[in-house]
Amino acid sequence: MTFVVTDACIKCKYMDCVEVCPVDCFYEGENMLVIDPDICIDCGVCEPECPPEAIKPDTEPGLERWLTLNADYSKSWPNITRKGTAPADAKEFEGVPDKFDKYFSDKPGSGS
Ligand code: SF4
Ligand code: F3S
Repeated sequence: MTFVVTDACIKCKYMDCVEVCPVDCFYEGENMLVIDPDICIDCGVCEPECPPEAIKPDTEPGLERWLTLNADYSKSWPNITRKGTAPADAKEFEGVPDKFDKYFSDKPGSGS
């Protein structure tokens, strides 16, 4: 098992999750983060820290798409270990449906 970041993170990107991860396995895209499933130790401490509840255990049904996305982009986006500044309009994007189709960016973030 592992934990994955889902599309609820897109354009919210609060980064509270990176502060608590004991193995620094978050990777930064332009407007969302992903978890490297090969490094994640499944401790679960990041899950309750995410305001829009974007982090899920991959034991929940229907998350195959997000597991693939996390595995793929954690190989090309930079590692992030420190919380940066969330987007000014992050709150407005909490709970917005279909964020992947509307807003996903495959561009890397800056990492830290
Ligand atoms: Fe890091 Fe634990 Fe979250 Fe995995 S479950 S990403 S190891 S905090
Ligand atoms: Fe995204 Fe939640 Fe982390 S919004 S950056 S998964 S705290």
